[in-house]
Amino acid sequence: MSQTATRNTDIETALATAKESYVAANPRSLARYIDATAAMPGGNTRSVLHYAPFPLAMARAEGYRLWDLEGRDYIDFLGEYTAGIYGHSHPVIRAAIDGALDGGINFGATNRTEARFAAAICARFGLERVRLANTGTEANLLAISVARIFTKRPKVMVFDGGYHGAVLGFIGGGSPINAPFDYIVAPYNDSEATRALIARHAAELSVVVLEPMLGSGGCIPALPEFLHMIRAETQRTGALMILDEVMTSRLAPGGLQAVRGVRPDLTTLGKYIGGGLSFGAFGGRADIIDLFDPRRADALAHAGTFNNNVLTMAAGLAGLTQVYTPEAAIALNARGDALRARLNAACRAVDARLQFTGLGSMLAVHTTRRAIVTPADAAMGDQKLKELFFFDMLAAGIWLARRGMMTLCLPIDDAACDRLVAAVEGFLVARAALLAAPG
Ligand SMILES: Cc1ncc(COP(=O)(O)O)c(C=O)c1O
Repeated sequence: MSQTATRNTDIETALATAKESYVAANPRSLARYIDATAAMPGGNTRSVLHYAPFPLAMARAEGYRLWDLEGRDYIDFLGEYTAGIYGHSHPVIRAAIDGALDGGINFGATNRTEARFAAAICARFGLERVRLANTGTEANLLAISVARIFTKRPKVMVFDGGYHGAVLGFIGGGSPINAPFDYIVAPYNDSEATRALIARHAAELSVVVLEPMLGSGGCIPALPEFLHMIRAETQRTGALMILDEVMTSRLAPGGLQAVRGVRPDLTTLGKYIGGGLSFGAFGGRADIIDLFDPRRADALAHAGTFNNNVLTMAAGLAGLTQVYTPEAAIALNARGDALRARLNAACRAVDARLQFTGLGSMLAVHTTRRAIVTPADAAMGDQKLKELFFFDMLAAGIWLARRGMMTLCLPIDDAACDRLVAAVEGFLVARAALLAAPG
């Protein structure tokens, strides 16, 4: 057998053993999973949460801690895929939701909080106008739809490795369930190829949509010059630019766009901004968003039973104005930068094929030493080794995404960061032979 084949067999063996331990340690999660398959396909109603042999089920949470069905506790380094920035049941958020509940829910009317919340979002992210929705998916669908109407052009440019929602997924190119827009899928962080595609489709291109850092696609930041090129080329050709900051708005007080100095025509938001409840928003230029002004004879409609629901309005307003203040955003992201630097230093010290990409409070593990600039670079990592990392982290009491993404929530402190560093150092030692291989 070649060296590579032997190594692959060694990873398979280690992974099989790790999964056996996982199965033995989690009989209640297994039983729950089997029960769940009766009503839901594969026991699942949120695709990202499924993994083999079965997903771990959690029973409760507090601060930065989660407890599984067996009663074992984990440090929550997933932070609900960026939506859980406040940790579990933050007292200020909790009080805001309690207050809203006391006032009664489901008015079928406008309420006192929605305009204050909208104003706080506009002020924070430099938007002239905003509209609220229930998910990031909706926010992007609406933003793309209004861009097509505004420009009177059909085509939508997205990027390989991008993710904008349940029906707007472009990791690995695209998905049969995607909303049927006329897409052009461009290569992320490839300025020359993207510039050429924009030029080629200029007459028909309505909008270029991208994340300023690929989140689900592996925490790969857009190169600043790539963002600036797209801004310049969209302005030149009359297309709009949407920055999807559903995940990245947490990375600085004004979102990642403020750090990069790129002002898009529209911005989409979601996740933590709803205070941990369902949320989405799209906003930006008044001349575009005002197409929804219901006083206009030709107003566009934007419906949504829960767009202004009092629970999200209250939790979101309290969170953004009292808890995740600009100062808190700066401190949390500095903590994330320091943590990622420690993790990468530990990997480099033993020359392991392991690294952590990302910015601020978002990070993702990759099982390769090569510099990761594009999704193709990330795909060169050993996927089985990444799976082993996941199961080893669970065994060490670290909760993270199966695909290796981690985020920091506000309660995460130095002790929690030390525990993650210790868990990764343990992985580097226990799996040293597998991590020493080229790649
Ligand atoms: C960048 C980005 N946009 C949009 C979405 C969709 O948000 P939601 O899951 O609320 O529909 C996500 C969700 O992960 C996201 O990461």
